[in-house]
Amino acid sequence: MFVAKLRIMGGKLLEGEIEVKGSKNAALPILASSLLFKEKIQIQNLPEIEDVQRINELLDAFNLTGKIDKKIANRLRASILLAGPALARFGQVEFPHPGGCLIGTRPIDVFLEGWRAMGAEIKLLGRAPEEYIISALRGLSGSDYTFKIPSVTGTEALMMSAVLAKGTTLLKNAALEPEIKYLADFLNAGGAGISGAGTPTIKIEGRPGELLKCTAPFAVPPDRIEAGSFAILGALCGKNLRIKNFIAEELPTFLALLSNVGAEYILEGNALIFKNAYKKTLRASNVTTKEFPGFPTDLQAPFTTLLTQAEGQSLVHETIFEGRLNYIEDLNRMGAEITLCDPHRAIVRGPVKLTGRGLESPDIRAGLAFIIAGIIADGETNIGNIYQIDRGYERIDERLRVLGTDIKRV
Ligand code: EPU
Repeated sequence: MFVAKLRIMGGKLLEGEIEVKGSKNAALPILASSLLFKEKIQIQNLPEIEDVQRINELLDAFNLTGKIDKKIANRLRASILLAGPALARFGQVEFPHPGGCLIGTRPIDVFLEGWRAMGAEIKLLGRAPEEYIISALRGLSGSDYTFKIPSVTGTEALMMSAVLAKGTTLLKNAALEPEIKYLADFLNAGGAGISGAGTPTIKIEGRPGELLKCTAPFAVPPDRIEAGSFAILGALCGKNLRIKNFIAEELPTFLALLSNVGAEYILEGNALIFKNAYKKTLRASNVTTKEFPGFPTDLQAPFTTLLTQAEGQSLVHETIFEGRLNYIEDLNRMGAEITLCDPHRAIVRGPVKLTGRGLESPDIRAGLAFIIAGIIADGETNIGNIYQIDRGYERIDERLRVLGTDIKRV
């Protein structure tokens, strides 16, 4: 079988302009929400990535069979996003425990608790991997539900479920990530009654029997994680790099930390510019991942890669997922000096010279961290399992090549 790899010859500086593409994690729930609409929805600026294709395949299969396809769902955690709107619309949904990135155990207890609070009955089919049947044949009921953990997709799923429920739902300790507000805006434009999205308490006035109507095309906003990853590249090897569609308000803690390590950038409207940033000496800084507006867990691996080039000792504390430091061993094989203290904490000593190696991308974000490492390393880096990278970044090799990176899909 032919297996593609990304081959990078390190040591090149970056010059030119790169545009941040549409947000994966905004696009996925918005696509899933199409099940709440009477007719087709129109979406612009969709990123051309594998995860968007998978969710479209799931929707096509669902529209044909009324089922969430097990094979696809096993590859995609976001498959659970279909369950909320499907339950709201059809009163019943059957789905397998979602798969996806190997970044932690990724339970779905919060989703199940929320649906139960809205009056749904949950049956677990005794097969491995688990399958669930959630039913609310007489419709879901509005409810007052407090998240024990502010789950991002959990908030999105319950918000979508509540749109067609009888009565009002109050979601408390809801996640604050910008993608939730985008989804609420899209649903409200179609006639939903959601207020407070983007705050810890979201109120949804359910409108049973009233499917939503798509009145205008929705443009997917830029991907804040892709934007942050390009900024890390800018700080490390930007000669004259302009990142277009950079929404600074969505990365407040990230930008504060970038300044803290001594990276120099200019913010000009929605463009972030790095001029001769590669000449700057970076200094160590501790980083703790947190829910929005904190430092995003999705930027932890790329930022840790940057910290290998910073002078001194940095503590990286990953508080969201217990499997998100798994890539560190590979960075060490490239010459990094990182000590894994426990599954959540690592100490990075820098600066070190990285040397190109053969690597396998374990997940979307660590995959991008490996690309960054390859770009700043001496010699050749070959990255395998690039499906993981293509899941979240559109034609990343082509787009980085335009900036002067020596990167090829081989
Ligand atoms: N959690 C539970 N029970 C649940 C749900 C979550 O214990 O029922 C825990 C998780 O294990 C984790 C914490 O709650 O420790 C937060 O997880 P969350 O549910 O918020 O994550 P998610 O909704 O599954 C989304 C993004 C992730 C991103 C996280 C955190 C999408 C499709 N995915 O995941 O993105 O890392 O929020 O911001 O929006 C990625 O894009 O690479 C990615 C993994």
